Amino acid sequence: MSNSDKKRVQSATLSPDKVMHKLVSLAKRRGFIFPSSEIYEGLSSCFDYGPLGSEMKRNIKELWWNSMTRRHQNIVGLDASIMMNPRVWEASGHVASFNDPMIDDKTTKRRYRADHLIENYIEKLRRDGKEADLKRVQSTYEAATSSEDLNRALYELILAEGIKAADTGSGDWTEVRQFNLMFQCNMGALAERSSVVYLRPETAQGIFVNFHNVRESSRMKVPFGIAQIGKAFRNEIVKGNFIFRMVEFEQMEMQYFVKPGTQAEAFEAWREERFAWYSSTLGINKEKLHWYKHDKLAHYADLAYDIKFEFPFGIEEIEGIHSRTDFDLKQHQEYSGKNMEYIDQLTNERYIPYVVETSAGCDRLFLALLADAYTEDTVDGDERVVLKLSPRVAPVKAAVLPLMKKGGMGERASALCDELSSNFLVQYDDAGSIGKRYRRQDEIGTPFCITVDHQSLEENTVTVRYRDTAAQERMDISRVREFLASQLIGQ
Ligand code: GAP
Repeated sequence: MSNSDKKRVQSATLSPDKVMHKLVSLAKRRGFIFPSSEIYEGLSSCFDYGPLGSEMKRNIKELWWNSMTRRHQNIVGLDASIMMNPRVWEASGHVASFNDPMIDDKTTKRRYRADHLIENYIEKLRRDGKEADLKRVQSTYEAATSSEDLNRALYELILAEGIKAADTGSGDWTEVRQFNLMFQCNMGALAERSSVVYLRPETAQGIFVNFHNVRESSRMKVPFGIAQIGKAFRNEIVKGNFIFRMVEFEQMEMQYFVKPGTQAEAFEAWREERFAWYSSTLGINKEKLHWYKHDKLAHYADLAYDIKFEFPFGIEEIEGIHSRTDFDLKQHQEYSGKNMEYIDQLTNERYIPYVVETSAGCDRLFLALLADAYTEDTVDGDERVVLKLSPRVAPVKAAVLPLMKKGGMGERASALCDELSSNFLVQYDDAGSIGKRYRRQDEIGTPFCITVDHQSLEENTVTVRYRDTAAQERMDISRVREFLASQLIGQ
């Protein structure tokens, strides 16, 4: 690349609240994400992935799948059904305890999570530096969470502190109730208790109940893992923040079965590997990734960490790493009456394996990638919006642009586009000025624009423009395929 090809690129500083607004609008305008059933005014917390969104989501899932299954000889895949025998959810504890504490405001008719109201209140006391109040509320809240009558304890705390809803300023509360997050439906013609089935709230249980099927059919020996990507459903009380919290979403989960006593080591190894994946494979800015260690653990876990990302609306979870002990397999053994033990062929030892789980949300990750990539800058004084997505994640890998349609350039570009499209998603575009076409591609994150000009016809060369620097490089047409492939190689 010669110096004359270098462009002056200057990034703009964006306020976080504006970024979300801009992202939602770009996502709709360019076909990444649409509100679900929009012509009927949509459905709360449901979204559709458009042409570019569905390509990008496929890339994310494929990158995850490859780094879990292809790169680990001892991890295999599974695609279990969404609906399962309802006893599964009794055994897993979801029927009894997959609940959130809910509270309603009688005046505004709005519904809230009681624990969120208290946690936000605590956060405000911390921000305002009210140390004495903070200590008092924190210790009452801690006591409440382990109280026999959790609902009453939360309710009394909310009343005693006069906690109001931040969005309305109102606090005309009903009592706190537990609300089960599982969606129920009826299988078959009769809507009766015996026909109730649930839409799975996590993909993990499909893996646990198939433990022996997978192990035997794939001749797996502990330690080994089962990976799965699939839809999960939760009737969330609090919705919002675009695709961050949805009622129908996709999880990418892996359960790693280990010998009891070795779980701490496996946990550390997976913690490290999963954290590194976000920057090494997906190109997410490391500075925006954070660890969070859980003090309050789910009913099945003895250790849990979250990987969190700095979204424009706050630092929030994108993946959980959980040490799930032998809880799930033991429960399924008890409820199904089937032996869930593993027999070590070498030592003849029998045990129920412990499980280390890595559980990522595909939609949250999608949003994290968009938020991380969204940039406004100027190239030699021209303003543009650019999604600085990693080439692996970007939906379109290259745009092939004839400088002009006439003079044979259109045909040459179109032939190159056809040639590349057997390996990559590429777009041909001859509409408008070359500058406008670059901008259209920058906005959807296309990492390379390949231009066919007069020189191309004489010398069989093209220019390749790099999205982030806007710098250009001339290369032989025969090298373009290899160039694109080299940019997509990853872990
Ligand atoms: N099997 C363990 C499990 O489901 P979780 O922390 O409840 O753990 C794992 O969920 C991941 O699933 C989260 O880190 C998040 O990325 C994603 N997730 C959970 N609820 C979600 C929701 N309502 N909308 C979108 N993603 C969600």
